[in-house]
Amino acid sequence: MAVLTYRKTKTTVTDREQIAKALADIGIGFETWGVERLPEHLRSRNLADTEKQDVLTAFKPELERMKSQGGYVTADVVSLWPDTPNLDVMLAKFDKKHLHTEDEVRFCVQGRGVFTVFPQGTDALDIELRPGDFISVPANYHHEFRLCDDRKITAIRLFRDPAGWVAHYVN
Ligand SMILES: [Fe+2]
Repeated sequence: MAVLTYRKTKTTVTDREQIAKALADIGIGFETWGVERLPEHLRSRNLADTEKQDVLTAFKPELERMKSQGGYVTADVVSLWPDTPNLDVMLAKFDKKHLHTEDEVRFCVQGRGVFTVFPQGTDALDIELRPGDFISVPANYHHEFRLCDDRKITAIRLFRDPAGWVAHYVN
C-alpha cells in the first residue's frame, strides 16, 4: 500500500481511501489492484522480456478498463533492478522536476518507487508506490520519480502515444 508524505509538514497518509481522496483533490488518479494473482515465479526478481507478457495478462481486466476510460492504447512492463544496464543513466532522466505531454500512468507490480508531485498552490508530496498501487499523473503535471534504496521496481506503463513520454525539465 502506498504512503503519502507531505513535504512541508511531514504528515503521512497510509489509508487507501484517504490516499485516493487526497490525490483526487489534486488531480491525480489512484487505485489499488490485487497483486496476489501474480504467479509466484514472477515475484521478487527481475523479469525477462518473455515473462513481461505474463504480467500484462494477469492484470488484463484492469488494463482494458483503463484503456477504455483513459484512451490509452498500449501497455508494457518495465523492470528496473540493480543489475539493469545503465540504471543510473535511466534514473537520472527522471529524478529532476519535469513534465510530459502524455499522462504518466503506472501500476507497481513489485518493488517500490516514489513520485514527488508539485500541485499548484499547495504543498509538494511524495507518493511511495508499493505492489498493487496504480497512479495516473496527468500530462503537464510537474513531478519527479526515483527508486527507493533497494533500487527495484517492476511496473506496468500505459500510453496514449509513447512518443509523448519524454521528460521536459521545469524549475
Ligand atoms: Fe515523469
